[in-house]
Amino acid sequence: MADERRDSRGEAKQSFFAKQQLINAAKATFQYLAAAIKNATLYPESHPTLISSAEKLVIKVQELLVDRKEVSFYLVGGELFFETHSVPVDQSQSLLMEQFVSRDIGGIAFKPGLTPAEIIQFAGLMNKEPAFFVAAGGVSSVFAHENFPHIELHRAIIVDKKAGSAIKDGKKASASFTGAIDTVKAMIHAVHLDKAVNMRKMNTTVQTMVDDILENRDAFIGLTSIKMYDEYTFAHSVNTAILAMSLGTFLSLDKNQVAVLGIAGLLHDIGKVSLPLEIVNKPGKLTEEEWEVIQRHPVEGALVLSDVPGVTKMAMVTAFEHHQHGDDNGYPQVDGGPRLHLFSKIVALADAYEAITAARVYYSSRTPPDQAINILLKNRKGLFDPILVKAFVNMIGIFPVGTLVKLDTGEIGLVVHQTRDLMRPRVLLLTKFDGSEKETGADVSLLETVRGQYVRSIVGTIDPNVANINVKQYID
Ligand SMILES: [Fe+2]
Ligand SMILES: [Fe+2]
Repeated sequence: MADERRDSRGEAKQSFFAKQQLINAAKATFQYLAAAIKNATLYPESHPTLISSAEKLVIKVQELLVDRKEVSFYLVGGELFFETHSVPVDQSQSLLMEQFVSRDIGGIAFKPGLTPAEIIQFAGLMNKEPAFFVAAGGVSSVFAHENFPHIELHRAIIVDKKAGSAIKDGKKASASFTGAIDTVKAMIHAVHLDKAVNMRKMNTTVQTMVDDILENRDAFIGLTSIKMYDEYTFAHSVNTAILAMSLGTFLSLDKNQVAVLGIAGLLHDIGKVSLPLEIVNKPGKLTEEEWEVIQRHPVEGALVLSDVPGVTKMAMVTAFEHHQHGDDNGYPQVDGGPRLHLFSKIVALADAYEAITAARVYYSSRTPPDQAINILLKNRKGLFDPILVKAFVNMIGIFPVGTLVKLDTGEIGLVVHQTRDLMRPRVLLLTKFDGSEKETGADVSLLETVRGQYVRSIVGTIDPNVANINVKQYID
């Protein structure tokens, strides 16, 4: 087993780094494009600074073209994508994205043969005011009259539609969520009764979840914010799987690896099946002896899974490692300290966030998502991998989809989509703060400004139970 573990660890690492490299190359390409377009506003066409930025862009494009027919970027819902990979952006790039969006451009593709001169000509066109494009019948008709043989623009994907889709796609996500709960239940019962576990069913469930998450990650993350009191044990596993898989897709792991993360997430606590139920479900504080029993679940989990035919070996690794955080409280303790697999770190992070935000019967109220994120950030050096925490926060936002927020206008909003500013997501306005719950239907971006002032800002979060608002009806 040791050898197998080392091999799959190496493979996962290799493809993880290859993806990161590709994303970095894509980011640099978009950066040079932003620089060239900016320089075109500052310098005449023949200026060496402008020419040099266009040349750098061409070199980057040529490097990427070695493995592909075109270099294509897409803007969807405030995010930049290179092919299917989400590309993190900084200030200059997000300014260019806004410039694209305000001209109804949904993305750009570069083809072999691209020249610096063509870039400079394109940059000049891009710097014309949005009104110019409107007057000329839209960007595509302007583009058709110019000569850009190696640049193509993608049509704008309607951002509003995408923004609301966390709500609209909720039904589909909800169906696979329920399916996943049933699968975990069946698995736990089978282990209890010592019956054969149907791994095929679990694999199919996870495949469906992978597809749905790739299609709409926000809808799924929204679902994890609905905490179920009665089915907590099952929901915890499903939520952990969803968050782990979402982080996997955010890190551009491939579909198979995301599926493995899903299985690992669903089964990470399976070892609790072997422990006395009254301890596992005990409300309130555990005695020292009881705590020692609970700490056996990672080892029990690895043992249970070693008996299940057809289950990925990675599930055993993550079950064993998911509480071996980087401090002395981690368990089980191993000689020389833990060296965790990337997947164990991902599952541990998803597990911790889920547990912190969970509404277990014995907690008087749950920790709001923004405070949970704060706890993760505070512990990012000790307990978790700081790079993963950063990626997790970038993915889920400070105010995750499904969070109820109080706005400075007195309104209550439900977060439906992240934007480039983690403090300013898109929200669905539900009600006036003093009024009764009423969906106004307005889906607004907190980035919206009037004369340089934000129209709305978040002043705090609201516990849906306290405000007596049924979040589920908006997401389900
Ligand atoms: Fe656990
Ligand atoms: Fe757990």
